[in-house]
Amino acid sequence: MGDLVIFAAGEVAQKDLSIFAPDSPPAEHIRSLSLLVFAITGFIFLVVEGVLLYSIWRFRRPAAGQPEPPQVYGSKSIEIAWTAAPTLIVFILVLVITRTLWQVERPTPLPTAGDQALFVTVVGHQWWWEYVYEHYDGRKLGFVTANELHVPVSTDGTPRPVYLTLKSADVCHSFWVPKLAGKTDLIPGHTNSMWFQTKKLGLFVGQCAEYCGTQHANMLLRVNVDASEDFDRWLEHEAAAAADRPPMREAKAAFLGLSCVNCHRVRGTPARGTYGPDLTHLASRQTLASGMVPNTPDNLRDWLADPQQVKPGCLMPAFGLTDQQRSQVLRYLNSLD
Ligand code: CUA
Repeated sequence: MGDLVIFAAGEVAQKDLSIFAPDSPPAEHIRSLSLLVFAITGFIFLVVEGVLLYSIWRFRRPAAGQPEPPQVYGSKSIEIAWTAAPTLIVFILVLVITRTLWQVERPTPLPTAGDQALFVTVVGHQWWWEYVYEHYDGRKLGFVTANELHVPVSTDGTPRPVYLTLKSADVCHSFWVPKLAGKTDLIPGHTNSMWFQTKKLGLFVGQCAEYCGTQHANMLLRVNVDASEDFDRWLEHEAAAAADRPPMREAKAAFLGLSCVNCHRVRGTPARGTYGPDLTHLASRQTLASGMVPNTPDNLRDWLADPQQVKPGCLMPAFGLTDQQRSQVLRYLNSLD
C-alpha cells in the first residue's frame, strides 16, 4: 500500500490542507473570518491576562510593616463597560458570521442550470464519493463517476464556478477541501449546497470531515482542476459508454456473469448496479478505494482478492473468485479507460 495521499509523477499537487492558504472565494471568506475572530479573541486574551498579572503584582501580600493596598468594591462604569463590550463583540461576530455563511453556501445572484458553470451532485457513501455531473455551461450531462472530481479552471475572462449539491446515501459525511471551501455536511434526507471556483490548476486534496464509521479517515477527496480544453476532453470521454474492444469480449462476459454487476455499473453493458462506485472509466482514475492507493494493476488485484485487507470494514466483501475468474475480471477492468 502506498501513502495515504498519492500523486502521480509530474502532477501539480495543491496538497496543502491549510485553511490559511485559500485558492477559492469561499475559502478566502472563511480565512478572513478566522483572522477576525483570532484578532478579537487574541485581544481579549491579552487584556484579561494583562489585568490578571497586574492584579497579582499590585495586590500581592505586603511585606511586614507595609500598608495593605487599597481594596476596590464596585464600579458602575467598569460594570457597564464589561457588559456592553462583549455584547457589541457578539453582535459584530453574529453579523460577520451570517454574511460568511451566506457567501460560502451560495453566491449572489443565485445560479441557474443555464449559467456558465459546472453543476455536480455529490452523494456520500460509506466510504466513497459518488459524483453525478448534471450541467455544464447550460448543457445537460447526466453521467455518474466516483471518487475523483474533475472541474474546469476559472480565468478572469471566463470564471467557471462549481456548484455542488450534497446528499448522503447512508450516514452523515462532510465534504472538505480546505483550499477550495469550508466543510459542508452531507446529511441523509436533507440536501445541502456549496460552491467554489479557482484559478489554480492541479490536484486539490481533501477529506471527509464528519465521522462516518470505520473507514471515515480513508474517505479521501481529490479535486482535479483542469485547463478548459482538458476538461472538455475529460467530459466528453467520461460521458461516453465504456470501451468495448473485441479482444476483451471473453473477459467482459466473465465479469458480467459475476455478482459484481449487482453493485456496480459499467455504462453500455448490462451491469447496472448503483450500490457501489460506477466503473465505466475505472482504469482512467488515479486511485482506488476513494484515494487510498494508486490505481495500478497490482493494487486492483489485491483489492479484488480481498477488499477487507486494503480497507477493513468496507462494504465490498471478498468474493472468493477463482484465479481464472479474477484474471478475467482484472483484464476487463483494466481495459475500462
Ligand atoms: Cu464520510 Cu467521514
